[in-house]
Amino acid sequence: MDKETAWRALEQLADTERTHHLKDLLQDPDRFEQFSFRQDELLLDLSRQRLTPATLKALLQLAEGCQLGSWIEALFSGESINNTEQRPALHTALRQPAHNSFMLDGQDINQDVHRELERMEHLVSQLHQQQWRGFSGEPIDTLVNIGVGGSDLGPMMVCHGLEEFQPAAARAIKIHFISSMDGSQLSSLLQHLDPARTLFLVASKSFTTADTLANAATARDWLRQASDIPDPLLLKRHFIGITARPEKAQEWGLSADNLLHFWDWVGGRYSLWSTIGFAIAVRIGMDGFKALLDGASRMDNHFRHAPGSSNLPVLLALAEIWNINFLDIHAHAILPYDGRLAHLPAYLEQLEMESNGKSVDRDGQRVQHRTCPVLWGEIGPNAQHAFYQLLHQGSEAVMCDFIVAANRYGDAGESLQSQHRLTLANCLAQARVLALGDSALDQAASSAWQHYHGNQPSTLILLDKLTPGALGALIALYEHKVFVQSVIWNINPFDQWGVELGKQMANTLLPHIGARPQQGFDTATEGLLNELNQLTTG
Ligand code: F6P
Repeated sequence: MDKETAWRALEQLADTERTHHLKDLLQDPDRFEQFSFRQDELLLDLSRQRLTPATLKALLQLAEGCQLGSWIEALFSGESINNTEQRPALHTALRQPAHNSFMLDGQDINQDVHRELERMEHLVSQLHQQQWRGFSGEPIDTLVNIGVGGSDLGPMMVCHGLEEFQPAAARAIKIHFISSMDGSQLSSLLQHLDPARTLFLVASKSFTTADTLANAATARDWLRQASDIPDPLLLKRHFIGITARPEKAQEWGLSADNLLHFWDWVGGRYSLWSTIGFAIAVRIGMDGFKALLDGASRMDNHFRHAPGSSNLPVLLALAEIWNINFLDIHAHAILPYDGRLAHLPAYLEQLEMESNGKSVDRDGQRVQHRTCPVLWGEIGPNAQHAFYQLLHQGSEAVMCDFIVAANRYGDAGESLQSQHRLTLANCLAQARVLALGDSALDQAASSAWQHYHGNQPSTLILLDKLTPGALGALIALYEHKVFVQSVIWNINPFDQWGVELGKQMANTLLPHIGARPQQGFDTATEGLLNELNQLTTG
């Protein structure tokens, strides 16, 4: 069936299915069996999505009509599917075992990947063994990752998520993440750090990002004030660069020995698997980092080879396509019931909205349908006390992702284990009430204000345990889901032209900040420039 026919069939289905309520769909005793799917340590429960077997079949036909199978092959085989930048998107090649080989333009990039991993391992072990010494000869005990977007959010999310997996040698090393352009994070952090024991990691694919270079320059000034050893030596002891543009990092002053590389064919928001994950490897050790890669690689194999009807990324993508394009649901909440995943919402905001927040298709035509919804989130139990009111009784239809681990705390005390059971109960309760509304309790609301309509669709992702492997698989699940959706919408998820104009405009405005009033901007900008001039110079 071609794409247009499949799309029309879904529109027709939506005409009738839009009125279905989840409380009726959930009457089916086989519902959970039919709509939950397992892959290794991960269960994808779509039984609270407003799907029927007929819808799912029609959605799979849509995927076929969009040649999803060929697109998946194109992704994995290194075709230039980032068509606006004429390059492949090969983050999956970052998590292949060392014995594989992957030829790209006559070069075995799997060898390149593993050579950089080995260099990274060497640096990580120097840090863990306290052999990396600062300007005074004392060992480094603090790592500050300076980066933004993909050079910050992924490593920060994973480091936070997997803290309990740190090997003993890693415990002596504190890790901080700095991204804010205005220097506020850095200025307050530096007050508590010892320059002699601090190593900065300048993480930037392009090595041109203003935010990162500004923070790196502030860090360099801070070190220069603390030590009068010659600059090249100071930078060599206290900076590592991670970049796809080593020449730029060297121009900035970094030593070639201290540079870890990755490649143009790794998108920034897909880069935590590369040397951009250095902070992760310091936190959980190289074995932990490899387990993370392995989890992602297992999800890659599943995505590449499993049929659509049992393929987790495909099914997750299609359930959301149904919501976005056929049920008019344009808001998406990410709700981890696990404090360790506090940074997952911010990470997914970039992954999803920078990838698919587009309205021009691969052929340069305006798309005729909705694409990426607005996505936001928070640790679920905290969000219960903040914005769940809107989820339960607001006027917006919102789809929700609940993410939770079945097992936690192992041999830790009973009170922590009971906190985990409390969290699980809350997670299940919220998913149930969002789906069923008042009928969850078999009692009618006693007033209009206490009425819960329900019928808010949700996905529940249950991990057996939050391990490096499970987290790797979870992130890869989301990466591939984003890819499947881009195929259905016929957009390129691997560029981000939308962020460029703002950067250019900031460069244009910079000389006018605090200077004499200038003409030539719009009236609002000129008005503010005038105000600023008075406030900063007056
Ligand atoms: O401005 C957007 C962006 O280019 C993201 O795509 C990227 O993750 C981030 O900035 C940081 O870029 P870089 O790693 O090149 O500093």
